Amino acid sequence: MNEALIKSVINKAMKVVVGLFIILTLVSLSFLVDATEQKKQSSNTEIAEYSKAGADTCLRCHDQESTFPVLAIFNSAHGNKNAKHGPFSSSGLQCESCHGAAGKHTVKRLRKGRVRAAMISFTDQDTISNDEKNQLCLSCHQASTTRHWLGSTHQSSDLACTDCHQIHVRNDPILNSAQQLEQCGQCHTKEKIASHSAFSHPLTSGQMGCTDCHAAHDANNEQLLASDSVNETCYQCHAEKRGPFLWEHEPVSDSCLNCHRPHGSNQAGLLTQRAPYLCQNCHSSDGHPSFSSGSDYLQGQQASAFLLGRSCANCHAKVHGSNHPSGNKLLR
Ligand code: HEC
Ligand code: HEC
Ligand code: HEC
Ligand code: HEC
Ligand code: HEC
Ligand code: HEC
Ligand code: HEC
Ligand code: HEC
Ligand code: HEC
Ligand code: HEC
Repeated sequence: MNEALIKSVINKAMKVVVGLFIILTLVSLSFLVDATEQKKQSSNTEIAEYSKAGADTCLRCHDQESTFPVLAIFNSAHGNKNAKHGPFSSSGLQCESCHGAAGKHTVKRLRKGRVRAAMISFTDQDTISNDEKNQLCLSCHQASTTRHWLGSTHQSSDLACTDCHQIHVRNDPILNSAQQLEQCGQCHTKEKIASHSAFSHPLTSGQMGCTDCHAAHDANNEQLLASDSVNETCYQCHAEKRGPFLWEHEPVSDSCLNCHRPHGSNQAGLLTQRAPYLCQNCHSSDGHPSFSSGSDYLQGQQASAFLLGRSCANCHAKVHGSNHPSGNKLLR
């Protein structure tokens, strides 16, 4: 073996060793950096403290001119200083009762390359789960209206309270029945569209809201209805349909929905179908006194009461039940 060859082998070996050394230091350095970063982060959450000056601290940076204007909360129910246990009551944690302890979020100047420690956000889907958001609200609202929230369709569909409720507004629109068609309609387009049908409850005019028939957080009743059953819900306003009747019409006491669509319909009277078809779902013409249905009978002298206008109801006017001694055929 000559010297030159040995030298070049040693040279190569040295290079490999140096290379390895550099790689190893880099790797361990990066671990070190990671560790300090982690330490910083965890210490950040560990020592996250509530701001001593409460909202005043926040208002240094967050006001009505911010990307997200915050001040309207002071005109809302939550802003009320006298509300017992409210966020801004004397013992309240103010902004941080919902957004969590601020800790280092409030530092004035950030060091170069550092990001501001995050607060709990209700609009950013990624920071915390809906369940965790709801726990924050429920920490104050467990006992009151929300006692039936758990198990309700909205809860089990993983909705956040804040999918419906807005906090930084003077008046929360979802609590205003005139705005519910829009608010609830964001998710329930089918019902929203139905309410624009030719016939519907006065929802579009704002005279009625969804909550006249529904309880948005109540697991007690099917379909989140405001009362025990469909009929009880309707009787709240259409009490005369409750009876008791001497002559009941069975489908009526069973469910109004046998014949009506609550959210709207293109048939007069919110009917599911027009008579006679509606009635003929259940009644055959066999044995009925005189029954004519040809198109000739739609007009003129021979116009048939079976087909025109109120059709069957021309004679059977008491579709919902009768109290007349001889009203057994719902004729009077
Ligand atoms: C020194 C200025 C400053 C102070 C004080 C401050 N914030 Fe912020 N806050 C910001 C900035 C800037 C952002 C936007 C963060 C971003 O874009 O990275 C922000 C974002 C937020 C967010 C959105 C979520 C997030 O972390 O991005 C919330 C909620 C929030 N702040 C609440 C508060 C509350 C509550 C207080 C008082 C305890 C407070 N802030 C105090 C500057 C501040
Ligand atoms: C009762 C709970 C509650 C209190 C108290 C509260 N907030 Fe909020 N905050 C929310 C909710 C919920 C949202 C989401 C938007 C909404 O519902 O209006 C929000 C949104 C925000 C946002 C926009 C970023 C985001 O998505 O979270 C900022 C910034 C903010 N609040 C700052 C503040 C400040 C500053 C205060 C105190 C003056 C405060 N909040 C008090 C519940 C609260
Ligand atoms: C620190 C306690 C506290 C927290 C946290 C809290 N609230 Fe409240 N909330 C109150 C108080 C107190 C009232 C006022 C009750 C009253 O005036 O009768 C209120 C009122 C309300 C109202 C009725 C508003 C109105 O205009 O009548 C709604 C809706 C509401 N809160 C929803 C929420 C939601 C959603 C959250 C979570 C983002 C939340 N609250 C978090 C204490 C709290
Ligand atoms: C699907 C929409 C929706 C969701 C989700 C929702 N709410 Fe409500 N909430 C409403 C409506 C609508 C009302 C008004 C009820 C009424 O007028 O009968 C209301 C009323 C309230 C009230 C005021 C009660 C009163 O009588 O003044 C509070 C407090 C409240 N909700 C808290 C919550 C909390 C806390 C959560 C989450 C656990 C929540 N809500 C989830 C729609 C919702
Ligand atoms: C006049 C009373 C009434 C009003 C007003 C009303 N609903 Fe309903 N809603 C009902 C009844 C009754 C049912 C049960 C229907 C059934 O069992 O098929 C129902 C069912 C529903 C369902 C479940 C539908 C399904 O297919 O399972 C949704 C969603 C709904 N309503 C949303 C709304 C919304 C949103 C509004 C406001 C725009 C509203 N409702 C207004 C009476 C009403
Ligand atoms: C953020 C979306 C969202 C909003 C806003 C919302 N809902 Fe719902 N709602 C849902 C989901 C998801 C379901 C589960 C069934 C489904 O997929 O339709 C549901 C189900 C329902 C049901 C049927 C309940 C059952 O047992 O089948 C009714 C009734 C209802 N919502 C009424 C309302 C009313 C009234 C409002 C306004 C106060 C409202 N919702 C606002 C998402 C929403
Ligand atoms: C909060 C009160 C309220 C509740 C609850 C209610 N309604 Fe109504 N209903 C009204 C009002 C108001 C009208 C419109 C009356 C008018 O236009 O003269 C109406 C109209 C109707 C009409 C049409 C009347 C016509 O002449 O075209 C039918 C049918 C009807 N409701 C059925 C129902 C059914 C079925 C339910 C239960 C699912 C129900 N309503 C629940 C208030 C209510
Ligand atoms: C068997 C079918 C049927 C059932 C079930 C039914 N209705 Fe009707 N309803 C009708 C028909 C048909 C009309 C139209 C009558 C007319 O043209 O005179 C009507 C009209 C109405 C009207 C408007 C006219 C009036 O009489 O006030 C209301 C309100 C009403 N129904 C409420 C209800 C309620 C509430 C229930 C449940 C308790 C119910 N209906 C169940 C068939 C039915
Ligand atoms: C969902 C099914 C259903 C619909 C729709 C329906 N009915 Fe009925 N109807 C019944 C039942 C069930 C009875 C009780 C039958 C019995 O006692 O033999 C009844 C009884 C009657 C009676 C009394 C019959 C008797 O022998 O005492 C008359 C009249 C009547 N219905 C007319 C109508 C008219 C008019 C309509 C349309 C507006 C209508 N029905 C829609 C199911 C229905
Ligand atoms: C011209 C008036 C008139 C019209 C229109 C009419 N009916 Fe009748 N209906 C009667 C009379 C009268 C009786 C009672 C016959 C009796 O007492 O024997 C009756 C009886 C009935 C009965 C009880 C049958 C029985 O065997 O006792 C039913 C069910 C009925 N009608 C359903 C309907 C339906 C459904 C329509 C629409 C397709 C309709 N009627 C249209 C006058 C009418």
